[in-house]
Amino acid sequence: MRIVAKAIPTGAALGADIVDIDLSDELGADDLEAIKQAWAEHLVLRFRGQHLSDEDLLRFSRHFGPLDKAPINPYGTTWVPDNPEVNVISNILDDTGKRIGGLGDGECVWHADMTYNDDPVHACTLYAKEIPEIGGDTGFANMVAAYEALSDELKVRLTGMECKHDKTRNSTGQLRKGFEESYPDVSHVPGAVHPMVRRDPETGRCALYPGRRHNAYVLGLSVDESEALLDEIWAHVSKPEFAWTQHWQVDDLVMWDNRYCLHRRDAFSPDARRHMRRTQIGGDRPVAA
Ligand code: OGA
Ligand code: MN
Repeated sequence: MRIVAKAIPTGAALGADIVDIDLSDELGADDLEAIKQAWAEHLVLRFRGQHLSDEDLLRFSRHFGPLDKAPINPYGTTWVPDNPEVNVISNILDDTGKRIGGLGDGECVWHADMTYNDDPVHACTLYAKEIPEIGGDTGFANMVAAYEALSDELKVRLTGMECKHDKTRNSTGQLRKGFEESYPDVSHVPGAVHPMVRRDPETGRCALYPGRRHNAYVLGLSVDESEALLDEIWAHVSKPEFAWTQHWQVDDLVMWDNRYCLHRRDAFSPDARRHMRRTQIGGDRPVAA
């Protein structure tokens, strides 16, 4: 009998390993169904020991929806011009001294990807080709669990509120091309506006949707009130009880639901090499709770 992919939960607030699967093969319908079910339940999936070309990674990713192109890099292009859907996360320089990917070696603070867009990506995959011996681990946090753990009072207060998601800097704090170094106050910072609590129209489940802390602003509040509320929310969502950390091995593929999770990355030594290939699955406008 054919073996169907199986999920082994991490035991933390989110995440599961999928075993008995080779993603360089075309997926069977039963494997795909098992993966989709596990993903809906655990929000982050890890597939260890995968040997994938960019084409394999793209084919696998497309099972979950149409792909978005990688964001434009500081050279004004995508990292892999022949495959604009492939994004590269790396601190490595090529022979000519040019970066092969983004995000360098610094810490990436808690964030969800590309929420500064009106239709932020639904999900991302990240595939490890080279990893440092120390550091560079990636944490994930479950925003459904974080929402459910809020006091009833805060749930009511946040429902209907909207927050602006900073477009000007990436998760390492680097200024994106074409934006100002600073603004009169956070209410003037450009970015997309999204509900603070989003609801899954299919399942009805709700999740906090904080995006990222830097330059965030809650609409309708004074800057001071907004800062105080955001500090309270961020202290809550970054509690270890909502999180799980991926300690990378080469050939790990991780995919996360970018609607209902945050992620962060530890810094690592500038002398170490880290090289990840990434795809991003297109999303819709978040629905308010
Ligand atoms: C990303 C990201 C974290 C990492 O690709 O969006 O935040 O571990 N990466 O490289
Ligand atoms: Mn990210």
